[in-house]
Amino acid sequence: MDDLASLLEGRYGPGIKERTEADTPLNPTLQSILNHRSCRSYLDRSVDDDLLEILLACAQSAPAKSNLQQYSIVVVRDTDRRARVAELVPGLSPWFEKAPVFLAFLGDVRRIRRLAEIRGHDYANNNADTFMNAAVDAALAMQNFIVAAESAGLGTCPISMIRNRIDEFAEILNLPDGVFPIAGLTLGWPDWGGMLSVRLPQSIVVHFETYDDDALNAEIDPHDDRAHERKPIKPGSQRHTDRYGVLEKCTWSENATRQLSEPERSQFAAFLKSKGIELK
Ligand SMILES: Cc1cc2nc3c(=O)[nH]c(=O)nc-3n(C[C@H](O)[C@H](O)[C@H](O)COP(=O)(O)O)c2cc1C
Repeated sequence: MDDLASLLEGRYGPGIKERTEADTPLNPTLQSILNHRSCRSYLDRSVDDDLLEILLACAQSAPAKSNLQQYSIVVVRDTDRRARVAELVPGLSPWFEKAPVFLAFLGDVRRIRRLAEIRGHDYANNNADTFMNAAVDAALAMQNFIVAAESAGLGTCPISMIRNRIDEFAEILNLPDGVFPIAGLTLGWPDWGGMLSVRLPQSIVVHFETYDDDALNAEIDPHDDRAHERKPIKPGSQRHTDRYGVLEKCTWSENATRQLSEPERSQFAAFLKSKGIELK
């Protein structure tokens, strides 16, 4: 069902807010965005070049800081190259390889540096702000791509796990200085509807006028219950069970805090440095 009440219940779980249909007009874009789900199961069917070109134009239609467009996208269709990337993320097999297209969304501060040389200007912005702008530009382009792809009936899944072995990934795609991956993205035709993942309630995430997180303590348990009811976290998906054990009810907040109790990808700063990116 694609009426507003069902879509919001899909997104937040049951009982968040009573709504009547008259409240807000829905359109296909809102419906599609509210129905978003990452796709980890693909049909054996290719994505044609014309459609891909439109999706890429949608990606490039995203806003970009000062219109500097400090990002690049690498499209990987070649089976061997996709297999080499798949080897870096064995936990995602076999669905990862089945997606007919893999895209890498990259922050790219190289292009402007090259243009500075071509135009004969100094380049004085190798710093944290530029890194942030490039990462945001790349993320917005990726999100526009996802929205466009889903509106066309395609499925996608962002893949930050490619950053687990970032040096090898950079080598496979021949990434030069000034270019860094924010995430990969699988693209293909979904072979099942997927499941909506419950989001935190607006009472936790959205603040009016000033920041105020007083509601967190009271709101997190009900959120955890709604998320658990939708999709319990199975033992195999519970984080660091060697340290914390397996729980019958491992909630979203339990698992998220378990995850971040150990450092992840601490090699990233060194990778950026190796690509000549400063975070001053
Ligand atoms: C930057 C980013 C990186 C992600 N990396 C991975 C990944 O490496 N593997 C994976 O299976 N999903 C990955 N995801 C997908 C998230 O797990 C997914 O978006 C989240 O669980 C919410 O589910 P939904 O997208 O279906 O709503 C990533 C998402 C984002 C935005």
